[in-house]
Amino acid sequence: MEEKKYTLTKKELNAEKSKAIGRFASIASHDLKNVLGSLLNMSYYFTKVLKVEGEMPNKMLGLLSSEIKKLNTTVTELLDMTRVKQLTKESCDLFDIVTKSIENSKAEGIDFETDLIHVKIHADVLRMTQVFSNIIKNAKDAMQNKGKISVKMFLNENFADVVITDEGIGMDEETLENCFDPLFTTKSTKAVGMGLTVSLQIIEMHGGKIRIETEKGNGCSVYITLPVVK
Ligand SMILES: Nc1ncnc2c1ncn2[C@@H]1O[C@H](COP(=O)(O)OP(=O)(O)OP(=O)(O)O)[C@@H](O)[C@H]1O
Ligand SMILES: [Mg+2]
Repeated sequence: MEEKKYTLTKKELNAEKSKAIGRFASIASHDLKNVLGSLLNMSYYFTKVLKVEGEMPNKMLGLLSSEIKKLNTTVTELLDMTRVKQLTKESCDLFDIVTKSIENSKAEGIDFETDLIHVKIHADVLRMTQVFSNIIKNAKDAMQNKGKISVKMFLNENFADVVITDEGIGMDEETLENCFDPLFTTKSTKAVGMGLTVSLQIIEMHGGKIRIETEKGNGCSVYITLPVVK
């Protein structure tokens, strides 16, 4: 029997990999959330129904429920990091989204130089904030949390451009070629390698584009283009 050969392009392969990672995260987080929900119910039962007495047991139960809630948030974040499903789009100002992302990312040692404009887009505000936060986080990592990040916005007819430039280590050719691949990372064990993968997906789901200009040792400029609403 003739053997059929299938060849996938890098884009198709990445899409398949992302889907598999997203499915895995979705199943794992669903199960984890069920368990966490039961644990939270149990701690509620001990506190409110059985009315456990004593300072120490109540302190422990309080700690238990706050730790469960923290873990629940971490599971939600894990899901957001690995999977983009439905978007909830609304009319909003890209200026506010970029400003919020910068505010969230402010840290000692990092100077932000900004030149921002007001422009209306149709976007999922939380997801789009996640995109800019991911890119600013990468810039901070590349500069080892010391230096200047410039964030500029331009209007080009029906599109708005946001350009984020850092003074970090830059990328070599191989890194630039692979940086949007799922699970690709050059960082330590704490990084997952999903930041740019998910950002690309979110941007494309908004009809936008992302490209990177970089040189090893010479920083990085990330260009994000999004359609504007008239
Ligand atoms: N501003 C930048 N300067 C230099 N290298 C970068 C920059 N942004 C991304 N990279 C390179 O691209 C890789 C992939 O980036 P991505 O954001 O997808 O993953 P990560 O930052 O390694 O992990 P995660 O974002 O999931 O925590 C990085 O590991 C790094 O090598
Ligand atoms: Mg990242």
